[in-house]
Amino acid sequence: MNKAVIADTKPAKVTLEAGKEYYFCRCGRSNKQPFCDGSHGGTEFTPLKFTVEQSGEVFLCQCKHSNNYPYCDGSHKKLVL
Ligand code: FES
Repeated sequence: MNKAVIADTKPAKVTLEAGKEYYFCRCGRSNKQPFCDGSHGGTEFTPLKFTVEQSGEVFLCQCKHSNNYPYCDGSHKKLVL
């Protein structure tokens, strides 16, 4: 089983638009974190398609250990690297 790569040990603060479709990178290999750039090819991972109801800033997970994808839940603080 492939493991997700820790893209960063802090979340990404991004501004999202209501109703627009976004693709969150679950594999951690994307060079366009926190979004998918297709680098998951050949792994078991697929991106997570999501939308937001309100436009504004959010913190998206980059450590790929959040239990509240695509959002940061603070799990990066518990990582043992
Ligand atoms: Fe990570 Fe697509 S590049 S899910």
